Amino acid sequence: MKDQKQEGASQSEESGTGERFTSSGFILAAIGSAVGLGNMWRFPYITGKYGGAAFFLLFFICMLLVGLPVLLAELSVGRGGRGNASSSFTRLGAHKMWSGFGVIIILGAFVILSFYAIVAGWTLHYAMLSFTGQLFENNDFAQQFSDLNGSWMPVFWQFIVLLLTGLIIIRGVSAGIEKVNKIFIPGLLVLLIVLCVRVMFLDGAGEGAAFFLKPDFSKLTAESAFVALGHAFLSLSLGMGTIITYGAYVDKRQSLSLATAAVGTGNIVYALLAGLIIFPTTFAFGLEASQGPGLVFVALPAAFSAMPLGWLFGGLFFVMIAFASLTSTISLLEVPVAFVREKFGWSRSFSVILLSILCFVIGVPSALSLGDKIPWLTFGGKSFFDWVDFVCTNIVLPLGGLVVTIFVGYVWKGGAKESGLSAWWLRVWLFMLRYVAPILVLLVFLYSSGIISF
Ligand code: TRP
Repeated sequence: MKDQKQEGASQSEESGTGERFTSSGFILAAIGSAVGLGNMWRFPYITGKYGGAAFFLLFFICMLLVGLPVLLAELSVGRGGRGNASSSFTRLGAHKMWSGFGVIIILGAFVILSFYAIVAGWTLHYAMLSFTGQLFENNDFAQQFSDLNGSWMPVFWQFIVLLLTGLIIIRGVSAGIEKVNKIFIPGLLVLLIVLCVRVMFLDGAGEGAAFFLKPDFSKLTAESAFVALGHAFLSLSLGMGTIITYGAYVDKRQSLSLATAAVGTGNIVYALLAGLIIFPTTFAFGLEASQGPGLVFVALPAAFSAMPLGWLFGGLFFVMIAFASLTSTISLLEVPVAFVREKFGWSRSFSVILLSILCFVIGVPSALSLGDKIPWLTFGGKSFFDWVDFVCTNIVLPLGGLVVTIFVGYVWKGGAKESGLSAWWLRVWLFMLRYVAPILVLLVFLYSSGIISF
């Protein structure tokens, strides 16, 4: 192990671990990281809650103005530093404090993974129930969802998700991460299109599509703007080191600005398709689009149960979300894996096994806290799961974003060169990173952590 560490260190100035993505592989992996539960589960229900198309538009603007500049900043730090989400900062010559921020970011990714894997597990469970028809034996879908969370099943599925994630990334960057994304991401697109076409033929689908595509600006509030910006971060996988980590595996010849544009486009396309499946279905069956997190797990099973061949379409739908989640869990686990490999000189296999087990262990309280089995897992009006979600999404994630924007906007001078932008775009980018992004991110942080309110 020592030898490996030394070898890593001697190469590191130039090439980090030496592992590389191919050009298309990297773009698919970055899209894979971005597209996940955020697009398929969270985006539809917050769009339903905050008024449909106008919110979608707001999300799009936030992504363009803040999300994409920060994405490019993270990619530049990763490729420039060729380290992990902590060491990349110091390798670029920054003060040690920055790598300390990096460690917090890495911890955030690890903790996010612990509850992300639970929700991903629900989708596997629902896919199984749908294919076997069991899901449709009892029409009380809200009850089924709460029964699931009152059982040990989420722990089992969380384990399966982490096992699959581990098995993929143990094979490394090109034989594992890249290969799976090259299959899953196009596969996902095909499944989404098939479902989208199927849904368009439902009676009343048009109304749902209109809700999603025809903006009604009277519904927008200050709160919806903050939610949209927070979601742009979550959805593009920013603020938790995944893009920095992937950036370290990107070839010098790759155009980072092109990659940024590709990831932004991919993220929007998958969210658009998810919305075009979920809203028409919800409306066609007279279900409530604004019901919150249960939308995908409670409303849609009701729709599938009333649809010919619903078990098949339902099964495909949940498998699709599971695929999308796996390409994101891979990117989340790679963040701490890259860190411990470099820091302690451990092998990839050992790091993956150890961290998967650890992540499983810290996820168990979250998985169990949504039922009423263990009452002390609910405190301060929130379950343990909700606490972890709250702290990661509303506090660590915006702060992680802030660290990167300030670092690239004010501290590190090499960002201009690494980004490869032309003079005009460079000015726009730096303006966004220096002024627009930090202020907005700070506002989101203050708002979503409850420090300010409207
Ligand atoms: N972007 C993913 C989604 O939409 C989730 C995700 C993966 C993520 N890596 C991340 C979110 C890093 C924040 C930070 O589901």
